[in-house]
Amino acid sequence: MNNIKAFIFDLDGVIVDTAKYHYLAWKKIANSLDIDFTHEHNELLKGVSRVRSLDIILDLGKVTASQEDKDRWLLQKNEDYLTYLVDMNESEILPGVFRILQFLKENNQPIALGSASKNARPILEKTGLLPYFDAVVDGNDVTNAKPDPEVFLMAAKLLNIKPEDSIVFEDSVAGVQAANIANMISVGIGDATTLQEAKYIFNDFTAIDTQFIEVLLRK
Ligand code: BG6
Ligand code: MG
Repeated sequence: MNNIKAFIFDLDGVIVDTAKYHYLAWKKIANSLDIDFTHEHNELLKGVSRVRSLDIILDLGKVTASQEDKDRWLLQKNEDYLTYLVDMNESEILPGVFRILQFLKENNQPIALGSASKNARPILEKTGLLPYFDAVVDGNDVTNAKPDPEVFLMAAKLLNIKPEDSIVFEDSVAGVQAANIANMISVGIGDATTLQEAKYIFNDFTAIDTQFIEVLLRK
């Protein structure tokens, strides 16, 4: 394997199952505003920035609010979300992820994070994964949210790899679209129907074997 590719990972729903914590924190805000908020609604928020997520929830409840109220709810949501992260450790890394990260490291492949979250770095630190990443691009670094390709293009640039030689692992539709728009190879992690725009789709990382990575590296 002499080819070098960029391997770019989304965070929430790919490396850690934080969607459940985002859900609980948003549900608290939604319910305090008498807005019904279900797991199906939560699907709409995957890959979506914090600010946009609140707007989607307010739209669901047909609630209009002042910027001051919105800022307060955004702060409350994040404070509540952070309480779920306090005890986070490596046990919350999704099955199969560590094995692939290790394989990539052993083969000297550059690895980056490409996430919409502003909490990405503390999560990587708590799970012990930060040393595996040669570059981290998160919600603090970009101005345009997925499906805009900015986050992935910035990650590939930091790794000094061309977009067409970059592979993106994503669990959200917006993220798969961002990777495709960036002219990268999109690998969807999750439901095949939902992620049908991805070039490759796997249920989770336990379904990805090292042979698949080797095939990508030979392309
Ligand atoms: C994305 C999640 O990765 O990050 C979204 O899929 C979340 O659900 C977004 O809203 C922003 O995250 P944070 O941690 O900055 O609120
Ligand atoms: Mg995600």
